[in-house]
Amino acid sequence: MCGIIGITSNKPVSSAIINSLKKLEYRGYDSAGIATLSDGFINEVKSEGRVENLEKNTNIKNMIGHVGIGHVRWATHGIPNTINAHPHSSESVSVVHNGIIENSTTLKKYLVSKGHKFKSQTDTEVIVHLITELQKEKNDFKNSILKMLNQLEGSFALAIIFNDQPDLIVGARRGSPLAVGYGPNENYLGSDSYSLKSMTNKISYLNDGEFCIVKRNQIEFFDVNGIKLNKKILKLSSNEQNYDKGDYKHFMAKEIDEQPITIQNCIREYIDNINNDINFYNFPWKMNDISSVILIGCGTAYHSCLVAKHWIEELTSLDVSIDIASEFRYRKNRFKKDNLYIFVSQSGETADTYAALDLCNKNNMKTASIVNVIESSIARDSNFVLPIHCGPEIGVASTKAFLGQMLVLYILILKISYLKKDINKNLYIEKIKSLKELPKLVEKTILTENKIQSISGTFTEAKGSMFLGRGLSYSIALEGALKLKELSYIHAEGYPAGEMKHGPLALIEDGMPVVVLAPRDDYYKKTISNMQEVIARGAKVLLITNKSKEEVVSENIWEKIEVENTSYDLMPFLLTIPLQKLAYYSALKKGYDIDKPRNLAKSVTVE
Ligand code: F6R
Repeated sequence: MCGIIGITSNKPVSSAIINSLKKLEYRGYDSAGIATLSDGFINEVKSEGRVENLEKNTNIKNMIGHVGIGHVRWATHGIPNTINAHPHSSESVSVVHNGIIENSTTLKKYLVSKGHKFKSQTDTEVIVHLITELQKEKNDFKNSILKMLNQLEGSFALAIIFNDQPDLIVGARRGSPLAVGYGPNENYLGSDSYSLKSMTNKISYLNDGEFCIVKRNQIEFFDVNGIKLNKKILKLSSNEQNYDKGDYKHFMAKEIDEQPITIQNCIREYIDNINNDINFYNFPWKMNDISSVILIGCGTAYHSCLVAKHWIEELTSLDVSIDIASEFRYRKNRFKKDNLYIFVSQSGETADTYAALDLCNKNNMKTASIVNVIESSIARDSNFVLPIHCGPEIGVASTKAFLGQMLVLYILILKISYLKKDINKNLYIEKIKSLKELPKLVEKTILTENKIQSISGTFTEAKGSMFLGRGLSYSIALEGALKLKELSYIHAEGYPAGEMKHGPLALIEDGMPVVVLAPRDDYYKKTISNMQEVIARGAKVLLITNKSKEEVVSENIWEKIEVENTSYDLMPFLLTIPLQKLAYYSALKKGYDIDKPRNLAKSVTVE
């Protein structure tokens, strides 16, 4: 993970670097640091924790350099402290790094034998010493960069400044994302376009293996062999207001409440209201050329794949499998030409998901991605992109992107099902009509908030909790458990309700909170029986079902929440809402940092 920034300008750059680092905090917030260059000297300031700690450091105001680099860290090698914080510098060079140098131990041994002394426990510091060592060889500048890059194994995005190059930053990318920005009398490097957006809307992206030399009035790009490249300059759309918390205390709360609007926007993008049809412009393949779909993602994005698997089985004749990206990328996969691989990722930068995509591309497979960030690496490198149109998601825990991912998957599946004649026109139109009702139903469901707020108290006092469901609701149970554990650090397990008797029932003890998802579908009666089994063993059950005239036939339910009514297919959207709120209020009660939970980051660019 980690976020990097670099600015070369005709004025001091430290405060602009700090501002950009604040925008990159979603990538890591263990420590932060900055280095600038003035009069041939590299000055470095670093702090543990948030960028605001760095900003308060009194040494920052003495940084008057016109060239500088900055970093926010998500620790991989070495504990999160000031020494391990980036930048890492020698007298002649300073480096910020996002990624992992896999051969750092070997390189360190070699450099130590050459007399280099290491200060930190990081893998990154080898880059500093390697450059310093190569400088002794008096190579031409570009060639020494190439030589250094060729010796590094692993993944990286780098920004490097040199004491004898007063107007210059070197950027390099292998595996981790890196954008270059063009400004008036200044130019930039950043882990993403978002961090550069307040300074420029003109961006280019480095591809894997490329590097660049960024000067105040010139940017040069090179490929892996040092051959000069021409780069397209992209113009970004600006919607800065979306990055604001407004009246909300946390981005997460805002992002939950925004969901009726974000799914409405997404529906508007894909659904032709007049003809009740779904439009996917430029879908690049013929339906007959696809017989199998493989859905790949991580974390919450993986849960959306799990939901989609059910939909594909229910609505189409396609074969379907799903995979966690970090597993897929290292397995022996059967690549077949009628497979369609769909990669789901909010950030579009998740290292494992990107690696899985890259593997499929290298095997000439059909690749599509469902992303939120359309300028991301995953979007750029897949054959076909379906954006979820939900606007920037800042809270580390994914909420509105999850609904967006499920929505785009559902719309895609519906269209495929219709085109393959797996459903007839009437059913297709009926399902599109139900879909158009969804924003209103999500909005109504969000209003169950007050009850959840008081219920969350029991979860915060518990040692652990379980989330149970069957069918589509099992996928949502997994998502509910993930949200609770990542935000409130309460142990939570999602389980298929029918599996409890095969082991996990032993965990149930008196007073343990258990969430049971039992909408009135074909699984309802079975799930209610499983619920009775946990109640009989002392569980405090929060039942989440949908509104119905029929009372739930069960005794001793601790609490019940009834979401709105919709079709079986669309129920996951509504069941998710109370679970998002439960996680939010539990973390709020515990006083935790809701938008930045410990040990996590929004964009996971390491494997
Ligand atoms: C959990 C969460 C993570 C992400 C996962 C994948 O709330 O946000 O599990 O879903 O890290 O991230 P993306 O979707 O950016 O690939």
